[in-house]
Amino acid sequence: MTQKKHVLENLNLAVKDGSFTVLLGPSGCGKTTMLQIIAGLENVTQGRVYIGDEEVTGKDPAKRGVAMVFQNYAIYPHMNVRENIEFGLKNMGMVQQKRREISENVLNMVGLGSESADIS
Ligand SMILES: Nc1ncnc2c1ncn2[C@@H]1O[C@H](COP(=O)(O)OP(=O)(O)OP(=O)(O)O)[C@@H](O)[C@H]1O
Ligand SMILES: [Mg+2]
Repeated sequence: MTQKKHVLENLNLAVKDGSFTVLLGPSGCGKTTMLQIIAGLENVTQGRVYIGDEEVTGKDPAKRGVAMVFQNYAIYPHMNVRENIEFGLKNMGMVQQKRREISENVLNMVGLGSESADIS
């Protein structure tokens, strides 16, 4: 028999645009579940999710414009650093030159730009 367990109940949260918001709670209280619901990686059984004025409850994760850093290390092991950074941008259909510009900026920020390391 499958047992039902409610992970998030009566959750009503509004996050202000541009704010730095921290979720704090004991292990298993539902922090990751909530983030996955916002990102679209987990479905809700009830309730709605809005990003800005738009309801995104049933929307594909890729179409939400949301990024998530996973609790457990999640990079693509068969791709190099630059390819990992550019993967999401490529999925969005961004042209290579623009992707390169963005990844180069990010890599330079952490000292891994093309001049400081061989990551081509
Ligand atoms: N795929 C799943 N199937 C069944 N139960 C799950 C699943 N993922 C999470 N849970 C349960 O949902 C509850 C909330 O888990 P969640 O991972 O969201 O907690 P958390 O607040 O992120 O915990 P932690 O601080 O340990 O990361 C826990 O009881 C967990 O066991
Ligand atoms: Mg978690």
